Amino acid sequence: MEVKLKVRAPGGILAVFAAAMLLCALSNAQTGAQKTVAAMPPMGWNSWNHFAGKVTDKDVRAAADALVASGMRDAGYVYVNIDDTWEGTRDTSGVIRTNEKFPDMKSLADYVHSKGLKLGIYSSPGPKTCAGFAGSYGHEEQDAATYAAWGIDYLKYDLCSYREVMDRESRGDKAKANAMMREAYEKMFHAIEKTHRAMVYSLCQYGWDAVWEWGPSVGANSWRTTGDISDSYDRMSVIGFAQAGLEKYATPGNWNDPDMLEVGNGGMTGDEYRTHMTLWAMLAAPLLAGNDLSRMSPETRSILLNRDVIAVDQDAEGAQGTRVWAEGPKEIWTKSLADGGTAVALFNRGESELRINLRAKDVGLRSGFRARNVWAANEIRLDAEQTFQVPRHGVVLLVVH
Ligand code: GLA
Repeated sequence: MEVKLKVRAPGGILAVFAAAMLLCALSNAQTGAQKTVAAMPPMGWNSWNHFAGKVTDKDVRAAADALVASGMRDAGYVYVNIDDTWEGTRDTSGVIRTNEKFPDMKSLADYVHSKGLKLGIYSSPGPKTCAGFAGSYGHEEQDAATYAAWGIDYLKYDLCSYREVMDRESRGDKAKANAMMREAYEKMFHAIEKTHRAMVYSLCQYGWDAVWEWGPSVGANSWRTTGDISDSYDRMSVIGFAQAGLEKYATPGNWNDPDMLEVGNGGMTGDEYRTHMTLWAMLAAPLLAGNDLSRMSPETRSILLNRDVIAVDQDAEGAQGTRVWAEGPKEIWTKSLADGGTAVALFNRGESELRINLRAKDVGLRSGFRARNVWAANEIRLDAEQTFQVPRHGVVLLVVH
């Protein structure tokens, strides 16, 4: 049927194809390397959630070592991302230097690369970063060139004090302020492109001005959709469950980013961390561990290293899952998978254990299929209707084949 159509109307099909390609090119600034660099949601580690302003070269090396020793690198966690507070002062030519916590960034990058990992860094389009260190304002090309010379593979670019520049120059004109914000992000994208080094370009401006609608057009591989996460079930769940509705903006190369993981930082129970990890995987979110990797409990490891949940996140279709059913504290989310399967997550947001009834046809599934019950680590046969016992703040994740 498809072949016949092509024979009968090749011009029409070509025109539709050309128009689709043009639309793609117009709405997505990324070219080859920038697009493929984050074909799947980036995975790795970031220093902020645990080390914050105290992070040092030694901590980053220890994180790299732990990624290898724990098996996380081999499971896909390859980015080692230094967040805020590495920055020193600029030299007389304006070249950014590191501060005393990071004596030699090039040698750190070499070390990280020697482990088969990649190094990420952080800056701001404003004069100051959120922690008050030097930002890239007025030095964008110079900074991108410095990052490339160091061997940086990932840039998180955090709005921070650029808000003040926007406020000052837009004088209350919201549209102008938003246009300035986009231009600032686009400027750094072009600066990265000019280096000819592929870097994941990660926007952080807390979801302002519906960034998911324009992120790809300024070269973003990912964009934060919310304010900062913290290591509490309330904050994590408010952020995570509020992502429903953004699914159409996620595609290979361009991801919604509900912020970094808190798994293993101590503020949530095992069930709550399993919910966190599951929800982020269902969202096809970047998986950036935010804990101290050199001191992980067996439970933390088992959550971060669960191959089935990672596979849901990294699925080749690149679809972001969404809520398909909710009743009070009970929610069912599904995510379609490249092999024709479906990931189904049954969340209990309530304060006590609950039974959640899964009616296969209500969530677009057919019964009689095999399913992997991920956290229980066993295989089941999906009935037309089946009840699952879900712990308080917990989840049952099924991967239906
Ligand atoms: C902002 C970001 C955080 C972190 C800090 C660093 O708050 O949203 O993720 O990068 O800045 O100062």
